[in-house]
Amino acid sequence: MRGEKSIPLPKKYRPFNPEYLISVTGAAANNLKKLDVNFPLGIFTVVTGVSGSGKSSLVVDVLQRALEKEINGKLIKPGTHKKISGIAQLESIMVINQEAIGRTPRSNPATYAKVLEPIRNLFSSMPEAKQRGFSKRRFSFNAKEGRCPVCDGQGFQLIEMHFLSDVWVKCDQCKGKRYNRETLAVKYKGHTIADVLEMEISKAVEVFVAQPRIKRILKTLEDVGLGYMKLGQAGNTLSGGEAQRLKLAAELARRAHGPTLYILDEPTTGLHIDDVARLLKILHSLVDEGHSVLVVEHNIDLIKCADHVIDLGPEGGDKGGRLVFEGTPKNCSKNKLSYTGKFLEAFFYSNP
Ligand SMILES: Nc1ncnc2c1ncn2[C@@H]1O[C@H](COP(=O)(O)OP(=O)(O)O)[C@@H](O)[C@H]1O
Ligand SMILES: [Mg+2]
Ligand SMILES: [Zn+2]
Repeated sequence: MRGEKSIPLPKKYRPFNPEYLISVTGAAANNLKKLDVNFPLGIFTVVTGVSGSGKSSLVVDVLQRALEKEINGKLIKPGTHKKISGIAQLESIMVINQEAIGRTPRSNPATYAKVLEPIRNLFSSMPEAKQRGFSKRRFSFNAKEGRCPVCDGQGFQLIEMHFLSDVWVKCDQCKGKRYNRETLAVKYKGHTIADVLEMEISKAVEVFVAQPRIKRILKTLEDVGLGYMKLGQAGNTLSGGEAQRLKLAAELARRAHGPTLYILDEPTTGLHIDDVARLLKILHSLVDEGHSVLVVEHNIDLIKCADHVIDLGPEGGDKGGRLVFEGTPKNCSKNKLSYTGKFLEAFFYSNP
């Protein structure tokens, strides 16, 4: 019952356009040995290598930080390098990590994916709301008028335990519903705004089927595999993988922006194979829309599906930091010096 599931090889690999890339020269952060590396744009690239070979040093310390400084104007110092060219071809850079989306119960999938706003609009347009003169502000648990006065719309109260760490307990007044009684008198198809926050995303897709703007965002959340999650689940309770998929979904729903480079450092950590397949589908759809994806990974199922492999090594620490291979996964599988190549051999041996 284990291990039969596998991710098939893609039918097509995208070719690498040698005119459309970001070129890094003299990368020397941590153990990197003055590397010259080209990062192709417009395709799906993976950076591989044993642990400690220098993947994060190259991708995060040098490239990502240089791009964040250049494109976003961040005041940071990138890892040592001589030069990076080609940055002007990108409009933005998006780092999709597994960091939490918020530290309090105020952020949740609905707020993060910006679907709560159109839902609040919808509630304020209901006859009951109009009669009472409720604006969309009323349906925000951050606004005084609509929220529970005891917990200030958090649904939970922070109890200070002095010598122990603080704990969140459900609010006694609103029973965790976050809103006051008047607000909860307004319903859409029989559901209050509090019910909506308690609703699983897949169920919400059905409830809001007649609301195109709301449905589109909810569907995107479902597509990244978050259908089981409650719209109002507190952001500080999401796992790293869930937070990462939520960030991806929010990006996918936003969409209307120019050529973007998406950077993900070891995104499959903690993911089940079905979720790896889902993640791959999303990454491919971003590339199909004209964006570029750069992933640091050791997961072979993901590596074999990338268009371009940049393999670092050959070992970790001081014995690493060199470029072992760059090219397609298939050509990597023929490279005798690459550990990644050895693992890839099995997939391409029967498809020479
Ligand atoms: N901040 C740092 N200071 C000194 N050495 C570091 C630092 N970060 C990483 N290293 C070293 O650089 C090498 C490459 O690390 P890293 O880029 O994190 O590898 P990978 O991401 O491939 O696992 C390792 O030997 C690591 O111990
Ligand atoms: Mg790393
Ligand atoms: Zn309350």
